[in-house]
Amino acid sequence: MISVGIIGGSGYTGKNLVKYCSQHPFIKEFQVYGLNSANKSILELFPEFKGIIQNRIIRDINLISEYHDVYFLALPHGEALKYVPHLYNIDKKIIDLGGDYRLDSASDYENWYGKKHTSSDLLSEKLYGLADLSSLDYSNIKLIANPGCYPTAALLSLTPLVKYFSKNIFSISTSAYSGTSGAGKTAREDLLMSEMDGNAAAYNLNTHRHQPEIEQMLNKNGFNGNYSFAAHLLPIAVGIYSTSFIYLADKLKADDIADAFQAEYKNSVFLRMREKPPQLKWVVNSNFCDIHFSVKDNNIIVTSAIDNLIKGASGQAVQNLNRLFGWEDYLGILNDGAKDVSIY
Ligand SMILES: NC(=O)c1ccc[n+]([C@@H]2O[C@H](COP(=O)([O-])OP(=O)(O)OC[C@H]3O[C@@H](n4cnc5c(N)ncnc54)[C@H](OP(=O)(O)O)[C@@H]3O)[C@@H](O)[C@H]2O)c1
Repeated sequence: MISVGIIGGSGYTGKNLVKYCSQHPFIKEFQVYGLNSANKSILELFPEFKGIIQNRIIRDINLISEYHDVYFLALPHGEALKYVPHLYNIDKKIIDLGGDYRLDSASDYENWYGKKHTSSDLLSEKLYGLADLSSLDYSNIKLIANPGCYPTAALLSLTPLVKYFSKNIFSISTSAYSGTSGAGKTAREDLLMSEMDGNAAAYNLNTHRHQPEIEQMLNKNGFNGNYSFAAHLLPIAVGIYSTSFIYLADKLKADDIADAFQAEYKNSVFLRMREKPPQLKWVVNSNFCDIHFSVKDNNIIVTSAIDNLIKGASGQAVQNLNRLFGWEDYLGILNDGAKDVSIY
């Protein structure tokens, strides 16, 4: 049984961490830390949890106890740099939902995030926790960088393809779509309902911070060709939809592609291959990632859908916690277990 600290548990992604920690069979207790919400109660903030979780007071983020075994950090980028080095040095396990430890290079972090990295020595110590991948080694890991929401959707659909066929791939491009909760709970004029309703637009073209994160993982899995990424905002609150176009040198058989997904995800409870393109409503409020591919001539189109706040953040973070301790993937998330473990 472990004790957990949730630093930033009063935000959008923190909310589901609170829920999953409260229903996890091996978490004996957890404490939430916040900034402006300090000294409020959880039920004041999240009244929908009445009758579901035990109420407790949110503690001041400046008074974090060293008592916990594991710390989730769900803070705006740059903020985790204040807490992670100390927690690391006192031998705690850390799962950071933000972007501060995802990139391997401090200069890439500086270029894309516009900030100096103050604990760059830890960038090589972390595990990039794309939790469903078959090859991740959690032994001796103290720091997990939980992937971003767009990278989770894009990489889960692309990794088997680059891992098995990268020599045959010329280039890849991804067009991805997010709901407004991807930006967190801080008020922004451009995200007002009166601005967003009936609207959609691309944003941060060639400057989105998730682009180098995706490219880093594509490179590590053998693909070094051209990659481009375009993020779009949809007039919905929750969900990420990713469509990637893969241009091949030689034709591939659909069966061989299906085998690559099967080989990568055969042990993954939260991956579902679909016979037609997934819909957001199949995955919102869940930790599932639904994927479909279509191949014709020298092109593959692969689509995927996730809940950005769960699979793209807190659900995957709890999966990472489970993997860190060698527990079943679904604990805290689906306590009754998965009813069907085949991905097809
Ligand atoms: N939203 C998503 O879809 C998503 C998906 C994947 C990853 N992420 C990443 O996860 C992290 C948290 O995202 P979120 O959407 O949960 O953010 P959020 O809703 O804005 O919540 C931020 C949390 O951080 C706390 N906080 C502490 N210091 C803060 C400061 N200086 N300024 C503002 N807040 C501060 C807030 O506390 P108080 O509320 O008490 O002030 C709150 O608990 C971010 O790094 C984000 O990039 C988000």
